[in-house]
Amino acid sequence: MSKKLTCLFIVLFFVFLAVFSYAQQDAESKGAEIIVIEKGRMPQVTFPHHEHQKTLENNCNACHDLFPKQPGIIKQLIVRKTLYNKQVMNGKCLKCHKDRKAAGKKAGPTRCSRCHVRSK
Ligand code: HEC
Ligand code: HEC
Ligand code: HEC
Repeated sequence: MSKKLTCLFIVLFFVFLAVFSYAQQDAESKGAEIIVIEKGRMPQVTFPHHEHQKTLENNCNACHDLFPKQPGIIKQLIVRKTLYNKQVMNGKCLKCHKDRKAAGKKAGPTRCSRCHVRSK
């Protein structure tokens, strides 16, 4: 193989690597597509994360102004008492769903059993 061709392959390899790691990083920073928020007394909540990101046009702070972008953080903050039980539910989930419904916009559920779905 000529030196030029070898060089070309090496360059292509690094271009591929860069694109690949960028795509990985992007997938990671968006967080999980679907998040199961662990149950306390109530059944667990299965939360469509990416669907919300899309509907809310990537306004991450619609939720993440209250808690950081880390897995399991809601529960951790409740244990550390910097968030209280149901604060996210009432202050974020239900508040937005109710406000949007009242404004006649497409909204999420407000009935307990539509979010707290008992697993079979
Ligand atoms: C409608 C509410 C909401 C919006 C909007 C939202 N998130 Fe999240 N996000 C959550 C919840 C709930 C969790 C789970 C926290 C937990 O597990 O305690 C979470 C967790 C995460 C995590 C941690 C990893 C994981 O998947 O659990 C990342 C990263 C993240 N979000 C990124 C983002 C980014 C980036 C945006 C904006 C493009 C965004 N989120 C918009 C509610 C939201
Ligand atoms: C839009 C979705 C949604 C709806 C509707 C909803 N919840 Fe929740 N609920 C959550 C989320 C998410 C959490 C966990 C985060 C937190 O504590 O704020 C939670 C937490 C809770 C908790 C504390 C944790 C536990 O399991 O003990 C209770 C109690 C609760 N919900 C009761 C209710 C009741 C009663 C209703 C109906 C009046 C209801 N929820 C409706 C999403 C919802
Ligand atoms: C700022 C507004 C906003 C916040 C905050 C928000 N939602 Fe929603 N949610 C919506 C809208 C709008 C829809 C309906 C449109 C759609 O499907 O994306 C929706 C739909 C849903 C649905 C139904 C999805 C389906 O496919 O039927 C669930 C479940 C849900 N939300 C749970 C939650 C939970 C749990 C939280 C809190 C962690 C939350 N939402 C916070 C706006 C919000």
